Amino acid sequence: MEKMIIINGEKYQIDVDSNMPLLWFLRDRLEITGTKFGCGAGLCGACTVHVDGVATRACITPVGVLADKKITTIEGLSETGEHPLQKAWVENNVPQCGYCQAGQIMNAASFLQQNPTPSAEEIDTAMQGNICRCGTYQRIKKAVADAADELAKEVS
Ligand code: FES
Ligand code: FES
Repeated sequence: MEKMIIINGEKYQIDVDSNMPLLWFLRDRLEITGTKFGCGAGLCGACTVHVDGVATRACITPVGVLADKKITTIEGLSETGEHPLQKAWVENNVPQCGYCQAGQIMNAASFLQQNPTPSAEEIDTAMQGNICRCGTYQRIKKAVADAADELAKEVS
């Protein structure tokens, strides 16, 4: 039977070698290019997407193990760019070159789902695996904290 994968709410057939990393399936096969290639070895976080809501590194995840899973990429986080993290990123003028930022936001989104009221230390720990060669770390941390405050207001 054909294996299907669900990406940003759309079903796609897995019509490639099942060992192909999800990152290449997204970028080369489907031309969904918001997810970036950094190290290709699971070390930098540039390729972070969600698999059933959990932050996952697309460069080291074979597409074949993702049949019937729900993948969310930066393109699918919010149709309108109105996710509290996206708004906080703009307000804090976070990106420099921008290359790492889709992965940063996807990692932060998954983290805030699991921990909506994080301490500064918890934000530090959660984000430390995502590398930014431009060094935007202080603005990233501030934006994650601001987004958490915003989400807390939305649920109260
Ligand atoms: S490109 Fe996947 S972790 Fe660096
Ligand atoms: S903004 Fe340039 S790598 Fe992070």
